[in-house]
Amino acid sequence: MSSRPKVTVIGAGNVGATTAQRIAEAGLADIVLVDIVEGLPQGKALDLAEAAPVIAHDAHVIGTNDYADTAGSDIIVVTSGIPRKPGMSRDDLIATNAGIVGAVVTASAAVSPDAIIIVVTNPLDVMCHVAMKASGFPRERVLGMAGVLDSARFRTFIAQELGVSVEDTHAFVLGGHGDTMVPLSRYSTVAGVPITELLTPDRVAALEQRTANGGAEIVALLKTGSAFYAPAASAFEMVDAILGDRKRVLPCATYLKGEFGIDGVFVGVPVVLGRNGLERVFEITLTPEERVAFEKSAAAVRELVAALPD
Ligand code: NAI
Ligand code: 2OP
Repeated sequence: MSSRPKVTVIGAGNVGATTAQRIAEAGLADIVLVDIVEGLPQGKALDLAEAAPVIAHDAHVIGTNDYADTAGSDIIVVTSGIPRKPGMSRDDLIATNAGIVGAVVTASAAVSPDAIIIVVTNPLDVMCHVAMKASGFPRERVLGMAGVLDSARFRTFIAQELGVSVEDTHAFVLGGHGDTMVPLSRYSTVAGVPITELLTPDRVAALEQRTANGGAEIVALLKTGSAFYAPAASAFEMVDAILGDRKRVLPCATYLKGEFGIDGVFVGVPVVLGRNGLERVFEITLTPEERVAFEKSAAAVRELVAALPD
């Protein structure tokens, strides 16, 4: 290892390995890739390391099945678990993935007590609860990746619809990472102009619906496994915001303590992300209609958390 930051990525599957690749290729940090399957993280890490001369970066990438190798990590990205198959909802993964996330967070947090955890495993908001409980970390250091992905999907569809660059689109998607997510069209813009002024209500509703169904659309096409390029890019954006202390305002699953009128549950809201992890919840005013949708989304997460095994 080196004096570069250290990022542990747990789960060397599609999302984990692609996230590791992005972080390494950006030269952001040294990477420790962990998986329960022997040889898998070692093989993928070696392959990633052998790409370094071609890409021209010096980040170290190692693979392991031993949490001792992850000690002293600055960030732990949790992607271990099973993904959805066609016809399954994210919530169908709950029992299996709660066991996996609890175990890997307990093991990794013990040797990296100052790390910031980014949870990716589904059902996302519920797995954030599992990670916070298993680590004992404060909410500032336990965040979930979903809003960046859901917003990226919304931005993609807006750009395609209007024939403009994705770079000039902004989108806000709040709420849980599930069917109850809340795309906020009023705050979704092209070059600062709300899409509600650029598209008919029908088209806005169609793009919102496609966004909420974005994960399932890809599962149905792939037939085995779920999306991973955009999820990995989204996890990377959070890692970059934290390690660079960039104060990015990004939608993340966050444990709310009264903000937005919600208490004691993880749900997606805009936050300021910097070197301390969650630095501030970025509260915005919701219309009564948006508030109802947001509260419904938070209630859905709360219900799943209540059903978690002890
Ligand atoms: P994958 O099946 O390709 O990779 C998962 C990896 O976790 C496998 O290599 C598996 O061996 C490993 N694993 C399982 N149990 C483990 C344990 N106890 N310790 C260490 N490693 C273990 O799945 P993929 O596509 O990478 O997805 C991973 C998770 O991320 C899924 O739960 C998926 O639903 C979720 N996901 C969440 C997104 C979000 O927006 N939050 C977006 C995309 C995926
Ligand atoms: C997605 O939204 C499956 O949660 C994953 O692609």
